[in-house]
Amino acid sequence: MSVIKVAILGFGTVGEGFYRTIQSHAEELTAVLGKKVEVAAILIKNKQKKRDISKDVLVTTEFAEILNLPQLDVVVEAIVDKDPTYIFLKKAIERGCHIITANKEMFAHYGEELLELAKKHHVSVGYEATVAGGIPVIQTLRQLLNVNRVQQVQGILNGTSNFILTEMREKKLSFAQALRAAQEKGFAEANPTNDVEGFDAFYKAMILSRLAFGEEPNWHSVERMGITSITSELIHTAERLGLRFKHIASIKKLSHQLKASVKPVLVGNEHPLYHVEGVQNAVNISSDIVGQITLQGPGAGMFPTASAVIEDLVYVCQNRPESQGILSSSETNTAIQEQGQQEETWLIVGLQKNAIDPSIKEIEHVEDETWVAKAKKEEIEELARKHQDLLYFQIIGAFEIEQKPTKIAL
Ligand SMILES: NC(=O)c1ccc[n+]([C@@H]2O[C@H](COP(=O)([O-])OP(=O)(O)OC[C@H]3O[C@@H](n4cnc5c(N)ncnc54)[C@H](OP(=O)(O)O)[C@@H]3O)[C@@H](O)[C@H]2O)c1
Repeated sequence: MSVIKVAILGFGTVGEGFYRTIQSHAEELTAVLGKKVEVAAILIKNKQKKRDISKDVLVTTEFAEILNLPQLDVVVEAIVDKDPTYIFLKKAIERGCHIITANKEMFAHYGEELLELAKKHHVSVGYEATVAGGIPVIQTLRQLLNVNRVQQVQGILNGTSNFILTEMREKKLSFAQALRAAQEKGFAEANPTNDVEGFDAFYKAMILSRLAFGEEPNWHSVERMGITSITSELIHTAERLGLRFKHIASIKKLSHQLKASVKPVLVGNEHPLYHVEGVQNAVNISSDIVGQITLQGPGAGMFPTASAVIEDLVYVCQNRPESQGILSSSETNTAIQEQGQQEETWLIVGLQKNAIDPSIKEIEHVEDETWVAKAKKEEIEELARKHQDLLYFQIIGAFEIEQKPTKIAL
């Protein structure tokens, strides 16, 4: 029986999980591929670490040794940082290997180049594990894109932030206490900036955007905000209104542009992302034929991520041409029609009654200095410019204030 030879770059949580899954699911792999899968080599950084790797596998710190193997079919990358990873994958494609990556930061920066290069060399690229861990969102979008036209993608893409927001609400913890709990459970790094400031979710959103819409918004135009400004008081005010804070990445196609944001927003209990709690991730896709679908599941961890990588292994070995599932922006023409900027619903905190701007016509008092308003984003931003300590959060989905607060006469 012929053999598929695989190299794994990185032997941390993801690399080791994939290695172990190849062994535990060897039979299934052989049945579906008609070939045996063998790990030929593993790239690591620190030779001193003890690892449970078969002695038949080349373990090396030199990528050149891997590239020079007599047979190499697939290179699976599970390293951190974007450099030198990009160069490793470029060389692997040029050698004629299919590539699979779990590295969102690298793929958000260099994905387009790698996909183009792969097309030229007639090899495939798997990147399921870059977004939402074990949830097969990339494959779902690839399938949907065959005929459906995607209009909007909204997702909870960072399990650490979602865990912190859930802990703050359920256990009445401060942000600092919830972050510490996340670190103790291994859900957050010692330096949590990438997660809590929204960078990780931003990279994932850009990868989804390219796949769903054939293009990315200008990165500088994307509103990116993490969860560090969310206090327990805010969470409990929201709860009294029947709302929950969720850190949501949203990309939608308007007539002339893509509109994307990665920020904390408020959702009511009818929204599909309201019940997504703890380290779970979820992605809600709106498209013209199917309507709305929501995928939910584990966004990280050894075996959920190994699941994404191993399914990618099957995908690339079946060698789907790289153009599949990547539409040019002109092809995704079911844009949501936008007539000027639309009014949205906002929770405004830190605004005194006598400071309400007459340009905001619909505003209702909730409690103390907290209000719910219907207004255009630019009107709220203008208000925030005048009142430095003002905080405002968009409420997405249907929202009714259950106990109707007093309406303020303006
Ligand atoms: N952890 C998850 O649940 C998860 C989920 C989805 C995606 N990802 C992504 O997957 C990637 C890997 O994550 P991870 O959690 O597995 O990381 P990790 O546990 O820190 O492991 C990283 C591995 O990469 C190796 N490495 C780092 N720099 C290297 C270099 N320059 N050359 C060779 N090897 C190098 C390390 O070698 P040593 O062992 O010698 O130190 C280690 O084995 C990241 O891009 C991450 O964002 C992770």
